[in-house]
Amino acid sequence: MITRRVFLGSMSWPAAALAWPGNALPAAAARCAAAGQPAPSPLEAAGDDFWSRIAQAFTIDRSIVNLNNGGVSPSPAMVQNAMKRHLDYCNSVPPPHALWTVLKPQRETVREQLARQFGADSEEIAITRNASEGLQICQFGFDLKSGDEVLTTTHDYPRMVTTFKQRARREGIVLRQFTIPVPCEDAAQILDHFEANITLRTRLILASHVINITGQVMPVKAIAALGRRRGIPVIVDGAHALAHLDFTIDELECDYYATSLHKWLFAPHGTGLLYVRRDRVKPLWPLMAAEEVLDDDIRKFEEIGTHPAANFLAIAEAIAFHQSIGPARKFARMMELRERWADRLLAHDRVRLHSPQMDGFACGLATFEIDGVDPVALNTWLWEDRRILTTAIVHDEFKGIRVTPSVYSTFDELDRFVEAVELVIRHGLPGA
Ligand SMILES: Cc1ncc(COP(=O)(O)O)c(C=O)c1O
Repeated sequence: MITRRVFLGSMSWPAAALAWPGNALPAAAARCAAAGQPAPSPLEAAGDDFWSRIAQAFTIDRSIVNLNNGGVSPSPAMVQNAMKRHLDYCNSVPPPHALWTVLKPQRETVREQLARQFGADSEEIAITRNASEGLQICQFGFDLKSGDEVLTTTHDYPRMVTTFKQRARREGIVLRQFTIPVPCEDAAQILDHFEANITLRTRLILASHVINITGQVMPVKAIAALGRRRGIPVIVDGAHALAHLDFTIDELECDYYATSLHKWLFAPHGTGLLYVRRDRVKPLWPLMAAEEVLDDDIRKFEEIGTHPAANFLAIAEAIAFHQSIGPARKFARMMELRERWADRLLAHDRVRLHSPQMDGFACGLATFEIDGVDPVALNTWLWEDRRILTTAIVHDEFKGIRVTPSVYSTFDELDRFVEAVELVIRHGLPGA
């Protein structure tokens, strides 16, 4: 098994240096280089002080321990302030002038920043209100007829499954779902499942980059390549992946990628991104009607009527914040936080992780189960008795508690969570 430390340690010195925001070598790393020593990982070089400054950038209520950042994230103060600034402006001058004359053109710089940060051409990026919108643009945007099949797993996001089920009721398409092992650390095995379920009638594939109930990272690059070989469009659901895993969209070589920005980019609530490869824009129908002249323009997916400019423009501050951490360092921290709680709980025989642990398959979101303890009751007790927020997962194939700390989470908060769960492991749930 390749550990994260080995992976980061095996980066050559220039590659490790490039992992730093702005390519600046921090002093500690520069000293190592001068002494001919191996570069410290981004995490090692950051130190506790760095993370305590990141924690202070958020305005969260520390009397609550939020371990459900996977649901939707708080934004750092700089993002909140930018949003308020734009809102105030829109309400101080005539809104039509503020929204359409002044601020609408500024959306173009946000589009460019998103494209630059996440590896795309700006003509391939639409700014949406959430992942659901971007995904449904793709899920509804293909003409399908009765009997055509769409394919996804039983672990994909319920709303996206509902979208296909509605098309099934309305147009008679057929939804095929298949299960994958929980957890799975074998990309070939996952790929085999997709391949085995493709039929002559398969017209569309939906694949999550990160499964939201397990944190399973999926081999979406290989799934997109499989779709291309078989002539089947692949829609990638990146709601939990972008600005969490360290990658850029161009590396995936996929055609359709949709994500929220209010999860791991910490952008304002109600923001998302849709990537459509340049030559795929024209054939894809928008969800809301757009003029014919926009047929080949990514902006046709943004024809949603009047909406706030503030959310979308404050994405720029969220990108700046993300850059100040750096994608490699952020992912390494997410893994460190996960190891902090998961390693301790896994020391107990009755605890099982439904999430992969191997590099390439694991991320900062993970789900555990304690044999003999009802996860819904445990989730309720954690909140009601300890004000610790986690997510109970009840799925046909497994159940457990999903834990998602974030970059502002402290070790002390995670230790308090572990101690509360250990109490239940030793003595059972109070009153149960
Ligand atoms: C895998 C996955 N896809 C899609 C969504 C929908 O995201 P949004 O609420 O931003 O539309 C979520 C939300 O949690 C998710 O986890």
